[in-house]
Amino acid sequence: MISKELRRRFLKFFEKRGHSVIPSTSLIPEMDPTVLFTTAGMHPLVPYLMGQPHPQGRRLVNCQKCFRTDDIEEIGDTFHLTFFEMLGNWSLGDYYKREIIEWAMEFLIDPHEGLGLDKEKLSVTVYEGDNQIPPDEEAANIWEEMGIPRERIHFLTREDNWWGPVGDSGPCGPDTEIFFDVGLNSCSPECRPGCGCGKYIEIWNLVFMGYNQTTERLYPPLKQKNVDTGMGLERALQVINGFPSVYETDLLSPIMEKVKRIARIREPSSEQILILRILVDQARSAIMALADDKGLVPSNVEHGYVIRRLLRVAIRKGLQLGINESFLGELLPTVLAILGDTYPELHRNQERITAEIAKEEKRFRSALRRGLRVCEKILKEKGELTGKDAFMLFQSHGFPLEMTAQIAKEHGQQVDASEFRKEFERHRQISREASQGRFQSGLADHSEEVIRLHTATHLLHQALRLFVGQEVMQKGSNITSERTRLDVQLDRKLTEEELRQVEEWVNEIIQRNLPIRSETMSPEKALEIGAIGLFGEKYGDQITVYSVGDVSREICTGPHVERTGVLGTFRITKQKRIGANTLRVRGVLE
Ligand code: ALA
Repeated sequence: MISKELRRRFLKFFEKRGHSVIPSTSLIPEMDPTVLFTTAGMHPLVPYLMGQPHPQGRRLVNCQKCFRTDDIEEIGDTFHLTFFEMLGNWSLGDYYKREIIEWAMEFLIDPHEGLGLDKEKLSVTVYEGDNQIPPDEEAANIWEEMGIPRERIHFLTREDNWWGPVGDSGPCGPDTEIFFDVGLNSCSPECRPGCGCGKYIEIWNLVFMGYNQTTERLYPPLKQKNVDTGMGLERALQVINGFPSVYETDLLSPIMEKVKRIARIREPSSEQILILRILVDQARSAIMALADDKGLVPSNVEHGYVIRRLLRVAIRKGLQLGINESFLGELLPTVLAILGDTYPELHRNQERITAEIAKEEKRFRSALRRGLRVCEKILKEKGELTGKDAFMLFQSHGFPLEMTAQIAKEHGQQVDASEFRKEFERHRQISREASQGRFQSGLADHSEEVIRLHTATHLLHQALRLFVGQEVMQKGSNITSERTRLDVQLDRKLTEEELRQVEEWVNEIIQRNLPIRSETMSPEKALEIGAIGLFGEKYGDQITVYSVGDVSREICTGPHVERTGVLGTFRITKQKRIGANTLRVRGVLE
């Protein structure tokens, strides 16, 4: 079965059962500035899951573009992807467990209108319960009625069988997940659905979204009981067709083939297959992120940082396959041929995507060439490459450790990775101290007022993102003891209404007297928790994230006040456009 047919069948099946088809939204969430990307179909539906009436009714179905960066370690296995499509249907306070489980079974096994899977190979998991929520016997019983024997119904913990919320709070609930046994040997006596070895592939998740997680981790029931389901399109195609991985499906195999042609590889070794998969996943994901109408570009902040990393990993994987010239742009026509009909933004933004990929590839390749020259010079002078050299290459030239290791290997040597790590740690300590010192001595006035205004600036920034748009990113700021000045990316002035909302929100947060805390973490972690701000340019750098309660998370060197209550009252005193794309906002604390 090909992807177009599967999308069609899913939408049709639920349309016939009273669902309205809704379009896929952007990969960049509109509603929720606490997460960078849309990670599931339910994302844009949060307000409706909470009880707001949806204009298209209480039964919805769609195919949503999704993006997950937290599975990054798994990329290259048979079924995890960064960008993927999710088929999903929803009941907004309408039908519940029985209906969705019955329909799910029908869709899974029907050979004409559904997937035509062998029922004997299906197994399911349900929630085992805890001190607040009972075990999901109801779902288990319905599955049993549907012909899944008890030995293939597994009761699992919250870690496996609970979904949501997105961010810190919101709709969530126990789920039941459907797995297909692809016929591989068990990885261990404990091998079971959810173990991740690739024998059992999760193809569909049915969430019984009846709770609202609060920021205090309480679970009051939602106004209405919802159903939220998600089926990974690529995975479903893999199992229907009996393919060893998602990379054989029509959504990915033409890209694999294209890269193989460019690399002049006919029969890839298993090592090369892994490299090809990572390359294809990362390149396709970067292209889909660039294709979004929001107009993202590679950079060192937020979404742009993710895109930059994806492209750079793809380039490095290409080098491992012997591709030394720019090639990523050549993959765009292939992606376009596969996904262009479904996601016309690929066509609309084709020129921009090509230009951005070309620019990034050129930039990164010249950095790599510089690093390579230095590497060779060291080898010529000293005859060896130490862990310290590898760190210097990484630090000064952005030259990745794995490439230094590769060059050393070509000269029959090994780079001492532990020495590299030791240097890395040492440097991190130094730079942390230095940056704190710089902040303190660099400020004209390091007074209490400045620190208070600094915290207020974080709140102002977050408020702008909440009420004006998530794309309102900080471009610069300047704080004196009298006022804060924040420059943001925006091509217009704020309306009276927006001004009022921003001020009110900041003052509400001040009144709530929320604590401010700082944590040091990897950029991956910071992305995952939705921190905003400037990410480190080089891989592996540690960064400090300052959080104000649960309402703002920003990468920053501090210092900040301990609680928001000390800030007083915030007021915007002036706004002014400086250039086509920048708005300058001044604010004071009174
Ligand atoms: N929201 C659920 C998921 O993503 C369906 O698995």
